[in-house]
Amino acid sequence: MHLSAQKGFILAFLVTLFLFAVVVECAPMKYQAKKRKGQNPDEDPMKYFHEAGYGDVLGHYDRRYFTGSAATYDAKADTLHHMIRAYLTTFRELNLETWIAHGTLIGWWWNSKLLPWDWDLDTQVSGSTMAKLRESHNMTFHNYTDMADDGTIIFREYLLDVNPFSTEGHKGDGFNVIDARWIDIRNGLYIDITALREVEPEIKPGIFSCKNRHDYKTNELWPMRNTFFEGVPALIPNSYEAILKSEYSPRVMTNTFHEGHQWNPGKKEWIPAGNRKVNHRAHVPRSLQSDSDEKRTGGLKNLARIFF
Ligand SMILES: *[C@@H]1O[C@H](CO)[C@@H](O)[C@H](O)[C@H]1NC(C)=O
Ligand SMILES: *[C@@H]1O[C@H](CO)[C@@H](O)[C@H](O)[C@H]1NC(C)=O
Repeated sequence: MHLSAQKGFILAFLVTLFLFAVVVECAPMKYQAKKRKGQNPDEDPMKYFHEAGYGDVLGHYDRRYFTGSAATYDAKADTLHHMIRAYLTTFRELNLETWIAHGTLIGWWWNSKLLPWDWDLDTQVSGSTMAKLRESHNMTFHNYTDMADDGTIIFREYLLDVNPFSTEGHKGDGFNVIDARWIDIRNGLYIDITALREVEPEIKPGIFSCKNRHDYKTNELWPMRNTFFEGVPALIPNSYEAILKSEYSPRVMTNTFHEGHQWNPGKKEWIPAGNRKVNHRAHVPRSLQSDSDEKRTGGLKNLARIFF
């Protein structure tokens, strides 16, 4: 009796801690979290980027270019496909090193494509590339043309907007964790670009961090590997697998059902599963979300897993 009460208490304690070990990603989730607590982030004059709203959908549009209604599933897929192609190609032409990260890297791992349920894309650059963006490329517009399968010409224009707070290596109030954005000016959907910097070169040399304190070792990132993403040349970090495992969980490389999509090994595609609830949530599921506290709470989570 005494033992089981104790066990019950430990369990409750673990559940609480487990729930608190909620995921921090380099993404606008932060603003949504703040909003729920009744604080309007847009009242903070220090926030640079402004989204069309706070929900899982509107939080993924730049307010200036939002047309008033969210893109359909197909329009979104088309927007993101051309957006990342334009971004990767333009950065390559400008000699700006960039690589794909987070959920976008998971998509690459499966089939070198976007995860069809994702709303925003994530890329990273080094601190020195971010300095170049700040100094020479802020508020530049970039044209892009492509040809659709049926021969029609696709024309798009993107804005590269650089956050003045991109000079800071620390998270601060959390409103400026995104250092730059590549925005489709037709509808406001965007790529989040974050810089990795050696935040404490004296104490932690060779450790690169984003503002949400994902840490990467120099040799986990470089030398970058050449690959293709959405059909254009792209870079991925040297230790992409170790990075995915530590940011998420090994399950992101084995689970074949996510967000209402079933992995089809024959087609090598994620197929919307019509018979199961398709949840167009903006963010990757909990199991896919990055967790900067993973290392600290890993033991605890493992312990918790024994109970559940
Ligand atoms: C992009 O195309 C638009 C429309 O054709 C044009 O007005 C604009 O000058 C072009 N921008 C650049 C940077 O070439
Ligand atoms: C980029 O340009 C915008 C608009 O002029 C400005 O508000 C912002 O501070 C600039 N960013 C940087 C990094 O200077």
